[in-house]
Amino acid sequence: MAAKKPIKRSWAEPFKIKVVEPIKMTTRAYREQAIEEAGYNTFLLRSEDVYIDLLTDSGTNAMSDRQWAGMMLGDEAYAGSRNFYYLEDNVRKYYGMPHFVPTHQGRAAEHIISRILIKPGDFVPGNMYFTTTKLHQELAGATFVDVIVDEAHDPVNAHPFKGNIDPQKLEDLIKKVGAKKIAYVSMAGPVNMAGGQPFSMNNLREVHALCKKHKIRLWFDATRACENAFFIKEREKGYQDKTIAQILKEMCSHFEGLWISAKKDLLVNIGGFLATRDEKVYEEASNMVVVYEGLHTYGGLAGRDMEAMARGIEEMVEYDGIRARIKQVEYCGKQLEKYGVPIVKPIGGHAIFLDARKFLKHIPQNQFPAQTLSAEIYLDSGVRSMERGVVSAGRDPETGDHKYTELELVRLTFPRRVYTQAHIDVTVESVASVHENRKKVRGLKMVYEPKYLRFFQARFEKL
Ligand code: F0G
Repeated sequence: MAAKKPIKRSWAEPFKIKVVEPIKMTTRAYREQAIEEAGYNTFLLRSEDVYIDLLTDSGTNAMSDRQWAGMMLGDEAYAGSRNFYYLEDNVRKYYGMPHFVPTHQGRAAEHIISRILIKPGDFVPGNMYFTTTKLHQELAGATFVDVIVDEAHDPVNAHPFKGNIDPQKLEDLIKKVGAKKIAYVSMAGPVNMAGGQPFSMNNLREVHALCKKHKIRLWFDATRACENAFFIKEREKGYQDKTIAQILKEMCSHFEGLWISAKKDLLVNIGGFLATRDEKVYEEASNMVVVYEGLHTYGGLAGRDMEAMARGIEEMVEYDGIRARIKQVEYCGKQLEKYGVPIVKPIGGHAIFLDARKFLKHIPQNQFPAQTLSAEIYLDSGVRSMERGVVSAGRDPETGDHKYTELELVRLTFPRRVYTQAHIDVTVESVASVHENRKKVRGLKMVYEPKYLRFFQARFEKL
């Protein structure tokens, strides 16, 4: 008799649902009107008109009962709130940074750190750009230089650490402009625009050594650092037995400082901060925050928000939680692949990125294939996604022309602890049917373009 195959044992999310928020299904005719009124830009839709909202994982997380309970313990004092000190303790404990300044969200911290570290004419190398990060670096007078590994620009390259910095590219830049002209190296992990791709600890060590040799500051966009830590645990030799908290702490030990949008890893709806081991940078930041955000013990946040963040830090490093988050994204990607939908590989941490260039081969990049695809998916099912291609990249400050990025992507982003596997199945089926009918889809023309971060507010018409 053949040996019986053992029964597979699945695992499920380490939480159950306590509060529900109804969502609305609409008709195609309704959505046609809604997306036209929104100028074919999913950022301009009313959230009420969206069925499954995969626009972003930013501030869209479900907080735990423990975080909600903490909201009632908000100490709403103008100065020296109890919640601030609890958050400060946890920033020290989990990120290992002695000094910290809260801000209302990530880009506020980016603004402050860019203003402090950059002199006009400087350069900031980074592992691919992020929209708000790069804009603040440019507004402070720097030129951003992409030094990510080449593999990151290729949607199908299966390199496990496509978020790595190419040390040779960094060295070439140092040789070309001189170390003194480099304000800091800006390293994010995982890299949002590359498809949620992580960097390895080994690469970080190498970049750190190079920066040390040339006396260049190394700063960390730690917005989704726990996802990066999870990938290191899964993919890098020597980390299998380490906890997410240990890996996070080791990652942070290589940086002089970091900034964060708490709206991601920290499982809250609003918040951010800047943290550093450099006392002088801290002093300047805690003075600047008073001008732009609020006193340095609240930085534009309510006491209750800081309490939710402090508690969120303790939850974000729990292995079962981060595994459920990343494996949900992976589940979606694997289902899409079964239908032959082109996606960025390997599957990233926070989102599935559809390769719109391949998906809508007949639409040239100046007719915005990713923008078009995002609108088509909404039309099909009410699922909301986001363009991450030529519209997001904006214009070249020198030539004024569109920046024709190699990656022309649509992002399906997963809020943490919000949607079920059934929501993912509905999403997958919708994307698959748009894919089946792709040849009928026509491109778009841009009819309104704002000056900064155009993807948020640009408007389009069907060609
Ligand atoms: N850095 C990264 C890597 C981000 O993904 C974001 C925001 C920020 C900084 C800015 O933070 O929004 O709190 O001001 N990303 C969101 C997204 C908007 O949808 O990916 P913020």
